[in-house]
Parts: sequence; C-alpha cells; structure tokens
Amino acid sequence: MSKPNFPKNFYWGASTSAYQVEGGIKNNWSSVFDAGRACDHYSRFQEDFGIAKSLGHNAHRLSIEWARIETEEGKFNEKEIEHYREVTQALRERDLEPFVTLWHWTIPLWLQEKGGLKNKKFSFYFSRFAERIVKELSRDVLFWITLNEPLFYATNAYLKGTWPPQKKSIYQYIDILKNLRDAHIQAYQVIKKINSNLQVGIAKNNIYFEGRGINALLQHAADWWWNFRFLDHIKNHQDFIGLNYYFHSRIQGLRFNQNENKVISDMGWEIYPEGIYHVLEDLYKYKKPIYIMENGIADAKDEKRAAFIRDHLRWVRKAIENGVDVRGYFYWSLLDNFEWDKGFLPRFGLVEVDYKTMQRKIRPSAYEYKNIAVDNGLDSDI
Ligand code: FCB
Repeated sequence: MSKPNFPKNFYWGASTSAYQVEGGIKNNWSSVFDAGRACDHYSRFQEDFGIAKSLGHNAHRLSIEWARIETEEGKFNEKEIEHYREVTQALRERDLEPFVTLWHWTIPLWLQEKGGLKNKKFSFYFSRFAERIVKELSRDVLFWITLNEPLFYATNAYLKGTWPPQKKSIYQYIDILKNLRDAHIQAYQVIKKINSNLQVGIAKNNIYFEGRGINALLQHAADWWWNFRFLDHIKNHQDFIGLNYYFHSRIQGLRFNQNENKVISDMGWEIYPEGIYHVLEDLYKYKKPIYIMENGIADAKDEKRAAFIRDHLRWVRKAIENGVDVRGYFYWSLLDNFEWDKGFLPRFGLVEVDYKTMQRKIRPSAYEYKNIAVDNGLDSDI
C-alpha cells in the first residue's frame, strides 16, 4: 500500500503528564513517591516542544497540575494559570495541537486531607477546577481529557493499595468509581456550557483480554467489567474516546495473564501489537472518534521501540481500513520520566533524559516515528 495511508489531518504526537515531567510539585503522591525535579519540564517546555516539532509531530498531550492551580481550597493561583497559558500558546505557535488532561492521578494536598477522591463533593471540586481552567485556556485548547485511566487508578489506589492513598477496600473502590464517573459527567457538562464546540472525552486504559473456547466466556466478563462498564455509563457524555493501550491478558483455565511473553518490555509487559486492533474494533460500537492517547514501551536500550511503534501502527491502520474512526496517535512518552511507584528506572521516552544534567538526547526510534508522521503512513502490511 503506498503512502500516505493514514487519514488526512491525522494527529501524530506524544503524551506526558504534569507530575511525571514538570518537577517541583507537592501533591498527594509526593510524600510517598516523590518525583523531585522530574525532567524539569516546567522550565524547559519551550525546548521540549521544539524537539517534538523537529520530530514531525503536529499534536501534543499534557496535563495541568491541579495542585499548582488550586493551592488552597477555592483559591486559584493566577501565576500558575499564566504558566499554562504560556505552555499551550507555545504549542499553538509551533502548530502542535494541544490535548489537555485535567486529572492525571494527582490532587492538591488540601483535597487529600478532605478524603480526596472519596469525598462526596469530589465531583463538585473537580468540575469547579475544570471550569476555571477551561475558561482560561479554551482560546488555545479545543481537546480536553477530563480523566486519565480512572479504573486503573482506582484499582491500584483502592484495591491493590500500591498507589496513594494505598487503601485495600472494595467498598471504597466502588465509591471512588462512582465519584470519578460523576466527576467526568459534571465536568463534561460544565465544559460544554462554556463552549459547545470544545471536544471532551476521557483517556481509558483498555486491556485486550483473549480467551479461546470455554475461556471466551470469561473474556467477555472481563471485557464487560474492566473495559466497557465505565464507558457505557458515560457514553452520552463524551465527544471522543481516548484509548490508552499497553498490553493484553491471555486467559487460560481460570487464570488471567497467561501470556507467552516472547518479547517483553523493560516493565515485563509482553509486546502484543495485535491487541490494539481488537480493542479498537470493540470500541467501534460507540460510533465516536477515537484518539490513541497513549501507547508506548519502556526500553532503555532503544532496541525494540521502533518496531513496537511500527507494528502497533500497522494494526491501527488495519482497524481504520475496517471503518474504525481513529484520528490520532500519541506515543507515551515524549521524554523519559517519573514512572509513578516505579520511579525513574523505566525509560519510555522518544527522548532520553540525563537526570543529572537534564540534557535531552533524541533516541534513534524517534526518527523512525518521525518518518511515519511526516509521510502520514507506513509501508508494508501485517
Ligand atoms: C499509563 C499512565 C501513564 C504512564 C504509562 C506508562 O497507565 O497513564 O501516566 O505511567 O502508563
């Protein structure tokens, strides 16, 4: 198939989140998993966007750090709002379409003290913050992601007890999911009231559950529970679906995660590009535009990244050929960054960061991705 073979005006970019890259943030994570200076993106965003531009990107995803904006309950910090205005303008000046996330797992300390996501007024607090930010920045930002991976966060923070606030309670977990769902719906309504043309969605981590024969039943149950329950609840309150895809889970007997692990990333996740195709096909039924908001690999040696991107994109293209309305792909991540409870060890970046000098070094795979973005397509079939 000759190039270009992706849809016209397709968005090519990379994703980041505030806490993982900016540095100097005190929030609900910092006392347990401190990101410290992270990549110092807070003061180097111009340089970093310059790199993204030089790599052929035409879009970029980032998040706003709530803890910077609303340091005290109900008090908004004008200086920090101005900072993010400069950030989004810096993207516009380079013709990088901004995709902005409002909650990427972090909350201000005052809210944590009030019970955080468990607080009955969480959706009120969140939509008030969303309203202020969208009013301030919507001249430059059309695409808004309310929440990043709500289910994944809730599972780790309230069931497994690994992420802050490190709880293990099924009751709290269920409450949290309800609060997050309400938070999304309220924020959606508030944003659409400001300007109904703004495009609002969530970024949802979907796992491809794969079961054969009798296990197919389990597969459907897992899909229903994990991948689609949340989306079904909010389907009338989203203009697009943001998909984060990292891995699959093979079901055998009554056991999940029986993967073959032939090729794995530094995180130990099996590389399974075909999974993105199946997940996209499953999302077809919502009849909404889809943006792949995250897909990436921890690969310090940069040995597998180029093939990882290529292979996933070939499966994405196949889904598009079948009629799935995919409109953008954002690699996770532009820079190496702070990987939550795993710290600085995993290296997801198209760009390597030397955490001592903060120097940036573009990895070879970033140029391969650039070729795809610039050509708006790639050769050879699956
Ligand atoms: C996703 C998160 C993102 C990053 C990647 C590796 O689940 O949204 O912040 O940690 O995993």
